Amino acid sequence: MKLVDTHAHLDMENFDRDRDAVMERAHASGVGCIITVGYDLRSSVKAVRLANDYDCVYAVVGVHPHDAQSVTPELMQVIEELSFAPKVVAIGEIGLDYYRNLSPRDVQRDVFKRFLSLARKRQLPVVIHERNAEEDCMKILDDEWHEMKGGVMHCFSGPWDMAEKCLSMGFYLSFGGPVTFLNFRNKDVVKRVPLSRLLVETDCPYLAPEPFRGKRNEPAYVRLVAEKIAELRGINIEELAARTTANARGLFGLDIGNN
Ligand code: NI
Repeated sequence: MKLVDTHAHLDMENFDRDRDAVMERAHASGVGCIITVGYDLRSSVKAVRLANDYDCVYAVVGVHPHDAQSVTPELMQVIEELSFAPKVVAIGEIGLDYYRNLSPRDVQRDVFKRFLSLARKRQLPVVIHERNAEEDCMKILDDEWHEMKGGVMHCFSGPWDMAEKCLSMGFYLSFGGPVTFLNFRNKDVVKRVPLSRLLVETDCPYLAPEPFRGKRNEPAYVRLVAEKIAELRGINIEELAARTTANARGLFGLDIGNN
């Protein structure tokens, strides 16, 4: 069995002390590939470097909506240059976050559109972060969603009607640690998403699944996420792993085997 952790932040200093051990534990629990996702310039540079250092790591470059106000034309230029590195598989994480509002909303919307254009130009998929901004996010995607290479709604937590909209646009939906929480509300969404559009992730070091909730998360724990989703859907973990790994290969063009 091979799993792909489609959304990790391996660059973060939480992993500086024991990154090699973290990678070994990931392999030991069946994780064959990890996609490490940038959220600002520094982390995007580091994601590319980690993809160089580790065979099983791929990189995504972009700026999180929290840092939208840091985005200058020069920074866009550097991200574009980084996107040409051989193991960069997507642009992200980009989107809107109206929950914490760390950058002004109008700036978030503008920067989101600019990154969608970059993804279109580079013909790379997008990794989207959306929190409390469903209406504006879907409106921007509706306007911009032409000649795109597809994408994933990361750590999806929306209701079924939003899931349906995203699926009709060709998006994959990715689920992480929250599916294991007792108070996770959208179990019906996890059950209804077609297997052909499902991805798994950790978003580590954040959002550790049960029984590690509140602790540092790491790629090995994507197995707990996969087990929970398999249980909710009444299928075995091997089938879920095979399907989600095939989906990750398809979306991101990963150069990995299926087993
Ligand atoms: Ni993230």
